[in-house]
Amino acid sequence: MKKVGLLCGREYSFPPAFIVRVNQLGKPDGVAAEFVKLGGTRMNEPAEYSVIVDRISHEVEYYRGYLKHAVLQGTYVINNPFWWTADDKFFNYSVAAKLGIAIPKTVLLPQKGYPSDVDITSESLHNLNYPVDWDALLDYVGRPAILKPFSGGGWKHVYKVSNKEELLAAYDKTSPYCMTLQEFIDFTGYVRCFTFGKNDITPVRYDPKERRYLIEHEYLSKDLGTRIVKDAQTINQALGYEMNTIEFAIKDEIPYAIDFLNPAPDMERDRITEFYFEHVVEKMAKLVIDRALHGNVANTWPRWEEMLGFGAASGFTAAPKTASRQVTASSSNPSSATAQFDRSGAKIR
Ligand SMILES: Nc1ncnc2c1ncn2[C@@H]1O[C@H](COP(=O)(O)OP(=O)(O)O)[C@@H](O)[C@H]1O
Ligand SMILES: [Mg+2]
Repeated sequence: MKKVGLLCGREYSFPPAFIVRVNQLGKPDGVAAEFVKLGGTRMNEPAEYSVIVDRISHEVEYYRGYLKHAVLQGTYVINNPFWWTADDKFFNYSVAAKLGIAIPKTVLLPQKGYPSDVDITSESLHNLNYPVDWDALLDYVGRPAILKPFSGGGWKHVYKVSNKEELLAAYDKTSPYCMTLQEFIDFTGYVRCFTFGKNDITPVRYDPKERRYLIEHEYLSKDLGTRIVKDAQTINQALGYEMNTIEFAIKDEIPYAIDFLNPAPDMERDRITEFYFEHVVEKMAKLVIDRALHGNVANTWPRWEEMLGFGAASGFTAAPKTASRQVTASSSNPSSATAQFDRSGAKIR
C-alpha cells in the first residue's frame, strides 16, 4: 500500500474531494490518501507517505520543517519545501526573462523597514546607498508602475502608482516587507494556468478586477495558447513546481508572466467554478497516484541552473568530471597532466 498525505489549512472543498478521488482512482494500484497527522517528529522517523501534497507549510513553520525531513526519508513532496523556502518573485522574474519569457521590467527595492524584533540600526545598513534614486527607478520601469512584495500573495500590498509621490506614499506602508517595483502591463486579456506536474497546463480565462475564473475555452488564439502553455512548462521546469498557478497578462498578443510563485494555488470550488474544480480534483488525484507509483524525488527540484547552462558544471556530481577536463585541457603542462584527485577533491599526485 502506497500512502498519499494531504497537508492543508482552512480549505473546505478541495481536501475531502481530493482524498475521495485518490482513494477511488488509486485503489487498483494500491494507492490511498489521508490527511497527514503530526505531533512531534523524531529524527530519522521513517517516511510514512510516498507522496505529500503541501498546501499550508508557508503558514506553519513546523510543517515546513517536517516536510524537509520527509524529503530526507524519501517522500515525494509537492512542492519541494527546500526550494519553496528559497524562492522569491524577483528571482523568478529574472530566471524566466533569461529563459526567453516575456517579463515586465522589475526592480528589487531596499526595504522600507524591518520587523520590530530585529535589532537594525543605521550602522547595520551601511551597504545601502541612500537616498534611493526613485526617479531613475521609475524611468526604468515606466509610469504607471506596480509596487508589490517580492514574496507573498493574495494581492496584499499590491499598489498601482502613477508618479513618485504615489510611489513613496505606498512604499511608506510596506515595512517590513521586501518589495519590487514593476512595469505596469496595460493588459487586454488575462489567464491563470493551473499546472499539474510540470507539463500538464490548463490555461483559464481570469478576470483580475472581479477576481473570478471564467469558463471560455476559445479565449486564446491557437498561437497564443501554444505559447502560454510552452512558457508555463518552461517556468515549472526551471522552478521545479508541480502544483502551481501561472498568471499571464496579455498585451499586443504578448503574454507577460506576472505571477508564478503560487505553490499552494486556490483550488476551492466556489472560487474556481464547479467545472474547473472537477478538473483540478481529477488531475491532482492522477498526479499524486503517478508520483506514488513512479515518482523520483529528484524530479521535485528546480532545473534553472541546468537550463541556463551553468548548473551541471558547478554542481557537486559534476565536480570530478570538471577536474579531469581541466587536466586534459592543460595537458601541455606536465605537472597537471598527471594530476589526480581523491574523493575529497585533494590533489594526490
Ligand atoms: N506588472 C503588472 N501589470 C499589471 N497588473 C499587474 C502587474 N502586477 C500585478 N498586477 C495585478 O495585480 C494582481 C496581483 O498581483 P500578483 O503579482 O498576482 O500578486 P499576488 O501574489 O498577490 O497575487 C494581478 O493579478 C494583476 O491583476
Ligand atoms: Mg497573483
